[in-house]
Order: sequence, then C-alpha cells, then structure tokens
Amino acid sequence: VKLVLRIGGSVIASPINPKLILEYVALLRELKRQRHEIVAVVGGGSLARKFITIAKKLGLKERDQDEVAITVSRLFAQLFVKKLGALGCQNVPSTTEQATRFLKDGKIVVMGGLKPGITTDTVAALVAEKICADMLVKATDQEGVYNKDPRKHRDAVKLDNLRFEDLTRIFESDKHKAGIHQILDPEAVKILKGSRVKVVIVNGFNPNNVLLAVKGERIGTMIS
Ligand code: UTP
Repeated sequence: VKLVLRIGGSVIASPINPKLILEYVALLRELKRQRHEIVAVVGGGSLARKFITIAKKLGLKERDQDEVAITVSRLFAQLFVKKLGALGCQNVPSTTEQATRFLKDGKIVVMGGLKPGITTDTVAALVAEKICADMLVKATDQEGVYNKDPRKHRDAVKLDNLRFEDLTRIFESDKHKAGIHQILDPEAVKILKGSRVKVVIVNGFNPNNVLLAVKGERIGTMIS
C-alpha cells in the first residue's frame, strides 16, 4: 500500500510523548517491513500553538505565526528521521517533490508543515495526491468522525462510513486561522474529494489502529 500517515500533533505532541513517538517509529519500521511505501506527516500540536500565541503577542502577522508553527512541526519530523536512521529520509523534506524523491529511493519519509496558510492535513492531502497514494490514515485524538463535535455534545455518534460530501456538510468551511483544530481540515477534504485515495480516521493514541486500518479492517471512520 502507498500510504500517507498523518500523525496528529494532538496525539504525539500535546503534551510531547516520547514513548508514543517511539511506538510510532516502531510502527513505521513495521509498515516498511510489510513492504508498504510510507510518507508520515506530523503536526506541532500544543507546542506549535504555544509558539503561535507568542508570535501573536509579539505582533507578528499570521503568515509569520504559521512559519513558526511549521518549524515546530518539522522539529518533530526531525526526531522521527533521526530515529529511523538509514530507513528514513536523509532530512525533513520541504517540498512534495523532495518527499516523492525520497520515497522513490525506498525511504520512509517523515515531514511536517510546508507553507503558511495551510495545515498539516492539507500537506498530507497534497502529498497523497502527488504520490497517487492508496490510503491516507489520520491518527487523531478521537475515535473517528462524529455527527457533531463530541467534545461539546454528549449525544454525538461516531460514524463508521462517510462520503466526502457528507464531511463537507458536517464541518462548515472555516477560513484558515493559525492553529485551528479540526478532525480533517476542509481544505484537505477539497483536495482529497477529487482523488481516489481512501481516507481512514483512527484514534492515534493506539498506533496499532493504523496497522488495522492499513490491513483494511473496520476501524475508526472510513471516508471515500
Ligand atoms: P496543524 O494544526 O496541522 O497540526 O498545524 P497538528 O498539531 O498536528 O494538528 P492536530 O493534531 O490535527 O490538531 C499547526 C499549525 O501550523 C501551521 C498552521 O498555523 C497550523 O494551524 N501550518 C502547518 C502551516 O501554516 N502550514 C503547514 O504546512 C502546516
């Protein structure tokens, strides 16, 4: 499987969880052993948001706030790359072209943000499109997509299967703001809608869920 794995900053970085990062490194090695091609995209989580707050207090404009957050996400990607050693890409790619090249060289690619004005979800969608991925798994802090925000509504119900059109209806398209948190950025949904990539949202606190999703087992929410 050609896989894009989007690891939420909310999962590994809010607070920073070295044990879970190690589990994800092991997962990437296992996926590689199973002959999957993998690009992982990590976010900066609460640390990125802290830096955005500081940047705001300094009076920096949104573009600069984003750039600071991107650096934080790339810092987490760097931890993965270092830990993967020879199996991983040489450095954290700063373009989708670079990511594609590393992938062609047989490396596990780990990247963070790319440019201001988007989220790491959109990075994952752009990469998925670029490499013609079969599957995009988002490891997030919820069991999947709910019919309404489960943090606000106790009666929210998890949905097992969804169409991209349904997703667009559930989330009213928000304008981009530095640090926004959504289960899947509407901007990414727009890109993915036109592609054939299968999207699965799983609870990322258990990395084994990613393995199950890649095996095609029913887990989280599948969007197609
Ligand atoms: P995300 O919100 O995508 O990362 O990026 P995350 O922490 O993994 O999010 P969760 O876990 O899904 O909630 C954090 C911020 O970094 C900037 C944006 O401000 C974004 O909201 N960013 C990230 C960019 O500007 N460009 C990028 O390519 C990536």
